[in-house]
Amino acid sequence: MTPRHFISLDQVHPDDLQLILNLAAGFEGSTTLQPLTGKMIVFFTQAPTTRTRLSFAAAATRLGAQIVSFAESESQISRGESLIDSARVIAGYADAIVMRWRDHAALCAFANASHVPVINGLTPEGHPTQLMADIKTLIDHWADVRGQSVAFVGDGSCNMVSSWIHAAVAFGFELHIASPPAYQPVPEVLAWAKSKGHEIIVSDDPSKACTGARAIVTDTWVSIGDQDVDARRRALAPFQVNEALMARAAKDAIFLHCLPAHRGEEVTDDVIDSPASVVWQEAKNRIYVNCGILVYALCDSPHEILAQL
Ligand code: CP
Ligand code: NVA
Repeated sequence: MTPRHFISLDQVHPDDLQLILNLAAGFEGSTTLQPLTGKMIVFFTQAPTTRTRLSFAAAATRLGAQIVSFAESESQISRGESLIDSARVIAGYADAIVMRWRDHAALCAFANASHVPVINGLTPEGHPTQLMADIKTLIDHWADVRGQSVAFVGDGSCNMVSSWIHAAVAFGFELHIASPPAYQPVPEVLAWAKSKGHEIIVSDDPSKACTGARAIVTDTWVSIGDQDVDARRRALAPFQVNEALMARAAKDAIFLHCLPAHRGEEVTDDVIDSPASVVWQEAKNRIYVNCGILVYALCDSPHEILAQL
């Protein structure tokens, strides 16, 4: 049987995404049920991480599982062992593998060689576990995201935006993206949304995108692996989320950022530290959605677990 990987939001049925959110809400309120007792999860990374690594550790602990975290540089891959051989070996030890990898295709190849679930903890093409925490945060505030208006301002070409587009289709909200011409959303992801009957509104006008929006979202201008640092800072300077831009949004608009934030670049202190900012709650929600994702990926009957929460 194919393992229940969690690699990209467009590859998971919306009903299963909703199940994960329901599990997340359940685990937020319950700390006693430990359906993963005796399981081992490996967190394998090629790149720095604070939230993803630690929130998976916190989730695993809540669920009764052990987690072992290690970097590619500490593994024999750094001395030439192939990724596929490594996948076969690691899958023999672990019950699930969370990976942060610089090459999305390599992560997919690893998953194909693994008989246990592989969870994408960020590649240049997507950050699906983060997006689930973002959606939970919106639901915490609005109860339902369907039909709501969300604006993303900044680097449209980054992993977060591709995952936001996937989420907009899965959960049925309006997504406006404002980004400079050189850093627009990935055309294939936009085309995928269109093929699902969902039009993502893309422009290079932050004011227009934010007008009336109920959530304003941004991300770092320089993602892991980006080399064109100076060009990005120059092109993205007019796309800073500041008080003037927030003033265009709905009165009760909230501000999201997956973090880490680069204060004074993509967001100003007066926005990220304002009452509209929900970034700390968003970071905390990583724990609960990771509980949901791990139960979905590892348990034979996640609905039965949900019924016990
Ligand atoms: N948001 C996020 O994934 O943070 P880390 O890079 O610290 O894991
Ligand atoms: N787009 C950012 C997200 C960090 C969590 C990056 O890839 O570095």
